[in-house]
Amino acid sequence: MTIRISPSILSADFANLERELQRISTADMVHVDVMDNHFVPNLTLGLPVVERLQQVSPIPLDVHLMITDADRNAPAYAELGAASVTFHLEAATDPVATARAIRSNGARAAVAVKPGTDVAPVLEHLDAYDMILLMTVEPGFGGQSFMPDVMPKLSRARAAVDASGLDVWLEVDGGIALDTVDQAVTSGADTLVAGSAVFGGAPEERIAGLRRAAESAGRAAADGRVA
Ligand code: DX5
Ligand code: ZN
Repeated sequence: MTIRISPSILSADFANLERELQRISTADMVHVDVMDNHFVPNLTLGLPVVERLQQVSPIPLDVHLMITDADRNAPAYAELGAASVTFHLEAATDPVATARAIRSNGARAAVAVKPGTDVAPVLEHLDAYDMILLMTVEPGFGGQSFMPDVMPKLSRARAAVDASGLDVWLEVDGGIALDTVDQAVTSGADTLVAGSAVFGGAPEERIAGLRRAAESAGRAAADGRVA
């Protein structure tokens, strides 16, 4: 299993984003949290800032849109060159069409569900998506506690993806740190967002530590499945 680490710049120094991107250049992607103060009670950054991040980032952009009217607003983030664009199922009227629009603009299309939202409607249209993001906190803020009760939903998504044979990544976001990464990977995650756990120390070391822990959990889970 390939593990991907995607540090969230929500916990970075917003006055020095270019420098912060350099500090996480050993990660696989950079997670960019776009919040509109409507879908979530917080406001971060939007299209013009993400466009500049795309121009200066040494690693691909993993954009997480926490904004209303995803159908109308998401494709522009793909158009500016982001590698992956995630919109929320709760904010979309026609999620399959929105995913198609993201793909046609050249990005991986991903859909996110809040902790209390059923993933079953997403699993019915797995071929429409390149990644599913299962929120492990209520979206809106960094530094919250990981919600282990999301793990059964993650396991169901993992079983559906494996049965389909499709290359759909499973991302978790919220409270991912050394003490929670094991549960997340064992339950089926392969793509890990971490904000406070990466920027709360030396980012390169934190990224390496998370990657080591995740890969060892992945190996243990694979051995368990074979046995
Ligand atoms: C929360 C954001 C997360 C956040 C995670 O709504 O989507 O990406 O930055 O922060 P940590 O890793 O600190 O829980
Ligand atoms: Zn996020």
